Amino acid sequence: MSRICVIGAGYVGLVTGAGLAHLGHSVVTLEVDRERLSRIIAGRLPIQEPGLDELVAEKRAAGLLEFSDSYAAAIPSADYVFLAVNTPPLPDGDSDTTFVFNAVRTVLEHARPGVTIVTKSTVPVGTGDRIEALATEAGIRVDVASNPEFMREGRAVYDFMRPDRIVVGASDTTVAAKVAGLFASLEAPTILTSRRSAELGKYAANAILATRISFMNEMASISEALEADVTEIERIVGTDTRIGPAFLQAGLGWGGSCFPKDLSALSVTASRLGLDARIINAVVQVNHGQRERAVELLLEATANRPDPSVGILGLAFKPHTDDLRGAPALDIIERLLEQGIRVRAHDPAALAAANAQVPGPDYLDDPYEVTRGADALLLATEWPIYSGLDWARIRSQMRGRRLVDGRNVLPREVLERLGFDYRGFGRAPWAGLDEPAPLRERPRSAHATHPGNGVKLDTAVVIRRHDAGAPAENVA
Ligand code: UDX
Repeated sequence: MSRICVIGAGYVGLVTGAGLAHLGHSVVTLEVDRERLSRIIAGRLPIQEPGLDELVAEKRAAGLLEFSDSYAAAIPSADYVFLAVNTPPLPDGDSDTTFVFNAVRTVLEHARPGVTIVTKSTVPVGTGDRIEALATEAGIRVDVASNPEFMREGRAVYDFMRPDRIVVGASDTTVAAKVAGLFASLEAPTILTSRRSAELGKYAANAILATRISFMNEMASISEALEADVTEIERIVGTDTRIGPAFLQAGLGWGGSCFPKDLSALSVTASRLGLDARIINAVVQVNHGQRERAVELLLEATANRPDPSVGILGLAFKPHTDDLRGAPALDIIERLLEQGIRVRAHDPAALAAANAQVPGPDYLDDPYEVTRGADALLLATEWPIYSGLDWARIRSQMRGRRLVDGRNVLPREVLERLGFDYRGFGRAPWAGLDEPAPLRERPRSAHATHPGNGVKLDTAVVIRRHDAGAPAENVA
């Protein structure tokens, strides 16, 4: 058992602290925001993650996890200090490491010699070296490692417990192996590497995932022009084992708290080095273009309408979260409001947050109310709840017919038969390869082989994203 301090009770810190306690370590998570801290101590976590409330409660009860704001009390006895503070984007796109270095300075005031400082936050390459230099300046011998976190929102506990790999970078193998040893009981593949490679590896992982999505979005534009269907292209390329099916779904593109900031930070880093990150810049540009395309499709459908109105289904950047950071829906709403369009929006989790961030639309908790009288609809987030909607009812209460499927998850032919003017991203008109599914008859199993056309009961439709549900039940 090691004694560990985790700095920061944000997303990564809460999960990392609880996860390390689950692995048998004694963990103190330090949080300087008093209000946040007292909420956590009272058992009300500031984030919703499947399995996290239970895990935190269990480990606190077992005496393995504590929360505090006192560096002076917690740091002196720590063997390891994990830095899990925010690295938000600066106006120029670079990563702001103020919180990291503030935390490091305070840690160094209290740490005992020999402590190991581990960066868990995504930090610019070279941050570990700077931490080491600060420690030398302060006259304290410390080891510094990088242990990047790859967890996804909505699956964070699951991802902690079943990581694809553990990456630890340090200036010598003994230090890297010691940090990796903290996670030994996970029995995950482990990569010990240099600190700079570990730091850059995290950016590279996010960049390549975003690249796959933007690549497929480019394929969507090409498919559309050629009357091919990008959802079929996804199947064709995704079944190649060298490629794999993940992160190939075309649509409104990527958002969230990591991809946008990490790609711009990587681009800024490259240009500082005199390098032009051409692929990364193009990936960002293509992503932006998807939002523009959605706005165009909605404006086209509202042109010359008196008191034009658009309904938005889904606001969060992806389903199963209330996180609006980088969410395409908010950008699109702002553009519509600028054009004098009335907007009504629904989201199962993010309504209040959206209202606080972008006032102007009517944020409604009934999805049908969002569609009433609308000239056009946009499905912006593939929440499963939308699969159960009665689309015939929606069609009958809209004023216009346009339905923009921002996630390519709805069955085009069924919706067209209901009278919608369906627009996906790169989805060809129904090619007539076989008869469109009768509304009540297509078996659920057909979903696996022909995902774009899965049809549930009545006029409800199947959301086909493979990762739509967070596998909370699998959490250890
Ligand atoms: C991501 C990384 O996956 C994770 O490893 C890292 O630690 C943090 O950033 P997250 O932001 O939770 O995680 O979201 P993720 O599930 O990866 O989705 C990112 C975005 O891509 C979402 O906006 C999603 O809608 C979009 N996406 C995803 C697509 O547009 N198409 C796809 O095929 C997959």
